[in-house]
Amino acid sequence: MILVTGGAGYIGSHNVIALLDAGYDVVIFDNLELGHIETVNTLKNINSKGKVVDFIKGDLQNLEDIKSVFQKHKIDAVVHFAAYSQVAESVKNPQKYYFNNVYGTLNLLRAMLENDVKKIVFSSTAATYGEPVYVPIDEKHPQVPINTYGKTKLMIENIMDDYDKAYGLRSVRLRYFNVAGADSKNRVGEWHDPETHLIPNILKSTFSGGKTFQMFGTDYPTKDGTCVRDYINVEDLASAHVLALKYLENGGATNYFNLGTNEGNSVKEVFSACEKVTGKNIPLDVKPRREGDPATLIADNKKAKEDLGWFPEKSLDESISTAYSWESKLTENCKLGV
Ligand code: UFG
Repeated sequence: MILVTGGAGYIGSHNVIALLDAGYDVVIFDNLELGHIETVNTLKNINSKGKVVDFIKGDLQNLEDIKSVFQKHKIDAVVHFAAYSQVAESVKNPQKYYFNNVYGTLNLLRAMLENDVKKIVFSSTAATYGEPVYVPIDEKHPQVPINTYGKTKLMIENIMDDYDKAYGLRSVRLRYFNVAGADSKNRVGEWHDPETHLIPNILKSTFSGGKTFQMFGTDYPTKDGTCVRDYINVEDLASAHVLALKYLENGGATNYFNLGTNEGNSVKEVFSACEKVTGKNIPLDVKPRREGDPATLIADNKKAKEDLGWFPEKSLDESISTAYSWESKLTENCKLGV
């Protein structure tokens, strides 16, 4: 039985599906602050090799909540997504991030140790690297985060190293670059309010009543002046978690991997791809730079390929296309008041 924290959220829900498809039974733990009960209900009804055995509404900041999960179920390993992840908010309100992300994870690890559960796959981030010294960024790149969000994730990585040395708790830390797209069967997708990410924001502006898309900064030292990012499809990302779990099950040592495609696309390129995929002329306002955006972030993904046998398969257009189907569904449901 696999415990998925944050399984009702964007990345967590796609991972639940990947785990079910790989034949795992799953318990979802989520406080539903950012995750959605509709997502949980969808996941419970998926007909796959594995099943969602239970959903437990709880908060990692409450030790008793997470302890009760391990009392109720025999958990073999944990895949840990539950966290706040907005960079700007983390700088404005660091306390919120240190308590939820770091203290919450300490409670989770405590409950794991008390129940002799010693395998965890952890959702880390490219934000732990900070301003890139070189690109593509490999795992040896210095980790000097420049915002509180990145700092919380790096602290947890360091805590996990100490817990391995002292208690034999093995972890795989997956450092995501820019996650994009939705489930190819359109069952789950990205559902944030407010939405800050590039692709959903471009797509939202194609629907009537949507805000004009705002492009932040066209004077960066890049090929066309806009920021370059490495967009990794969310289903490809999910398959890496299943491989990471199997790696730990097979006795693999604590490890960490970048999850990206090794390729960068500028904001202007993503915008054009969205116009092509949707067949629409999308309204656009050029705005000044958004604070804290590095010019270029591209992953070197060689280590994940070599050590996990992971190969991302989906193109940027496929990510945009599935994200568009999902946005259409969200907009339709919103209109219908569902
Ligand atoms: N952008 C716009 N308009 C928007 C939204 C974004 O122009 O409405 C631009 C941003 O300025 C940036 C690029 O699109 O240049 C990508 O921005 P996102 O907000 O989609 O993603 P980020 O690269 O800022 O951040 C993402 C995750 C973080 C994570 C980081 C790691 O959201 O949690 O990748 O690289 F830390």
